[in-house]
Amino acid sequence: MTTTPNKVKVTVTGAAGNIAYSLLWRIGAGEVFGPNTIVDLALLEVPDHVSNAEGVAMELSDSALERVGNITVTDDAAKAFDGANAAFLVGAKPRGKGESRADMLQANGQIFIGQGRAINDHAADDVRVLVVGNPANTNAYIANKAAPDVSAEHFNALMRLDHNRAISMLSQKLGKHSSEFENIAVWGNHSDTQFPDIAYATVGGQPVKDLVDEAWYVDEFIPRVAKRGAEIIEVRGRSSAASAASAAVDHMRDWVAGTEGKWATTAVPSTGIYGVDEGLVFGFPAIARDGRWTVVEGLELTDFQRARINANIEALREEAAIADRLF
Ligand code: NAD
Ligand code: LMR
Repeated sequence: MTTTPNKVKVTVTGAAGNIAYSLLWRIGAGEVFGPNTIVDLALLEVPDHVSNAEGVAMELSDSALERVGNITVTDDAAKAFDGANAAFLVGAKPRGKGESRADMLQANGQIFIGQGRAINDHAADDVRVLVVGNPANTNAYIANKAAPDVSAEHFNALMRLDHNRAISMLSQKLGKHSSEFENIAVWGNHSDTQFPDIAYATVGGQPVKDLVDEAWYVDEFIPRVAKRGAEIIEVRGRSSAASAASAAVDHMRDWVAGTEGKWATTAVPSTGIYGVDEGLVFGFPAIARDGRWTVVEGLELTDFQRARINANIEALREEAAIADRLF
């Protein structure tokens, strides 16, 4: 017996850029929406880069990927988001050496007002929006604010890359495979203030905090994870792309299919939980089930954790105040 495949429409912005060049093929291979789903792809670019995006679409087509349906290329946001069930908002300027992600707010913030409005007016009711373009948390805050008819839980920002980096660094330190780690959390903003937290982490069932010394944790691990994006820019000469695409795949796949009770770091609009202002898009430990994220509740926080979380609340409040003035 054959099963009729599902169909979803997926919009990817910044389709001619570095991240999309990896992300589109991972989506097309069925890694996000599963093997029984055909994906219609809408590639959104700025007018000057539509031709480059058409070249990307030609290559996608030439790959004859079994999970890809129609591919459209456009610079019209209304058309790109029309009926979209999922959207990866990647299109934005990356920072260069010496810049902070927050510096990108003036350059990129406006993009997310227009795209939030287009999502509000044209996307499918079940749309899942994952903001990748920096500063990702505040751009998601902007898109959410620009889409008053879409419930806030439909807007996420990507902090899975930070989560994956934390696991990778612990894996190298402890000589354990990444798949053995559970209950990692990266709280806050996708910025230098982010708080990769090992308080609840286990490896092979053992508490990670019993296996590393505090000086390494505080003075090496936390800042290195938080500054890994800058380290990549320094060494690679441009910002992370394939690892960002891979994290975006992890995030959207888990959002759709669930995490089987496991934690994943997800930046979602706060409901006020853990004292984070409602609406700020904040990285939390979360579990996905039945197509929805639920933040892990009831974790007891030490003064050390509280101070780090508060620093992120403060930073995101400042970014949100700047963002509010863009409207
Ligand atoms: P890139 O410069 O290679 O590509 C960005 C593309 O976006 C360009 O082709 C540009 O024309 C397009 N674009 C700009 N404005 C647009 C708009 N309004 N609509 C549609 N497309 C638009 O950059 P990249 O390396 O692909 O990175 C994209 C963004 O992702 C950057 O802001 C980068 O900092 C961010 N990023 C975030 C994470 C994360 O973990 N959240 C990780 C890596 C990179
Ligand atoms: C990353 O974390 O690699 C991205 O956000 C790119 C950057 O500017 O650091």
